[in-house]
Amino acid sequence: MAPEGALAIEGLTVEFPTADGGWRPVLRSVSLAVAAGERVALVGESGSGKSLIALASLGLVAAPGRVAAGRVRVAGVDLAETPAARLRRIRGGAIGLVFQEPASAFNPVFTAGFQIAEAVRAHRGVSRSEAGAIARRLLETTAVDRASEVALAYPHQLSGGQLQRAMVALALAGDPGLLIADEPTTALDLETQARILELLRRLTDAGRALLLISHDLAVVAGLVDRVVVLFSGEVVESAPTGELFGRPLHPYTRWLLAAAEGAVGGAAAATRGDGEPSAAGCRYAHRCGLAQPGCLRRPPPLEAVGPRRTLRCPVVRDQERAAPSPREPGNG
Ligand SMILES: Nc1ncnc2c1ncn2[C@@H]1O[C@H](COP(=O)(O)OP(=O)(O)OP(=O)(O)O)[C@@H](O)[C@H]1O
Ligand code: SF4
Ligand SMILES: [Mg+2]
Repeated sequence: MAPEGALAIEGLTVEFPTADGGWRPVLRSVSLAVAAGERVALVGESGSGKSLIALASLGLVAAPGRVAAGRVRVAGVDLAETPAARLRRIRGGAIGLVFQEPASAFNPVFTAGFQIAEAVRAHRGVSRSEAGAIARRLLETTAVDRASEVALAYPHQLSGGQLQRAMVALALAGDPGLLIADEPTTALDLETQARILELLRRLTDAGRALLLISHDLAVVAGLVDRVVVLFSGEVVESAPTGELFGRPLHPYTRWLLAAAEGAVGGAAAATRGDGEPSAAGCRYAHRCGLAQPGCLRRPPPLEAVGPRRTLRCPVVRDQERAAPSPREPGNG
């Protein structure tokens, strides 16, 4: 695995055209890194830009969208400087993608096993029979005791959970160092959801990195090392999982956590709030209980607030600095 890390996104800005001939940024200078073997969650509500980050990680931001700034490196390779043929090898080779609708990953006229074997052949350059054997092993890894049944089935003959396991096997075809799972369990019932998350944990125990995308903090809690919180195309906080759950700092993270704990309506966590973000100031100000006049005047920067923590909120940053540390003797 490359020492550079599995994924490094720096200052990524993605824009879409507006009706009046301008451009609207939907990702705003996003930086996000996943170290080799690290499990990172990217969490934010619908429309915050999570899937665009997954697409950009594969060099797949398509027209009418455009990458206006920033760069993406996968295992040390800069995607913008990579020829199309090598980019195709990186997709599925260095990165395996699992997404919400497994049916769309498969061609309905071929069996799941055949399609996984073809992907193995394309990425590993092995013979047809070797690829078939590897495909069966991958299905055994992901489908456990139903591998041969799943291999011989056409996509429409599989349940949602089986199809998602087949898709995970497809994502593993190139033996990628990084799995990106974009809302992999949203369409599944709770029990199947837990099993797929357990599968992702098992597959990333042996040093494979994971970027797990979800709108729900509760889904990622037990699985990842670090959480990155996205709001309206901007990273607003990142922290090791224990620190984020133990002491969430950004007002939006606190709201997401309350939603995950059921303190605000569960569905509300997945939906956009009312109103438009401030054009000049903090993009969360219209929903923020801590907002002050200064929050509307200038955009808050993302700052380091600990060895492995970042925060985009000077108000909470100052509150934290003013608060006595519980660990300091003589403060209690
Ligand atoms: N093809 C497109 N044309 C115009 N705008 C787009 C297009 N694709 C995405 N966007 C905009 O980019 C923003 C981010 O979209 P994205 O799909 O990344 O959100 P998301 O966080 O994955 O949401 P969800 O949780 O619903 O999947 C959205 O607000 C959307 O308006
Ligand atoms: S900068 Fe101000 S408006 Fe933005 S999250 Fe912090 S307190 Fe709220
Ligand atoms: Mg999405």
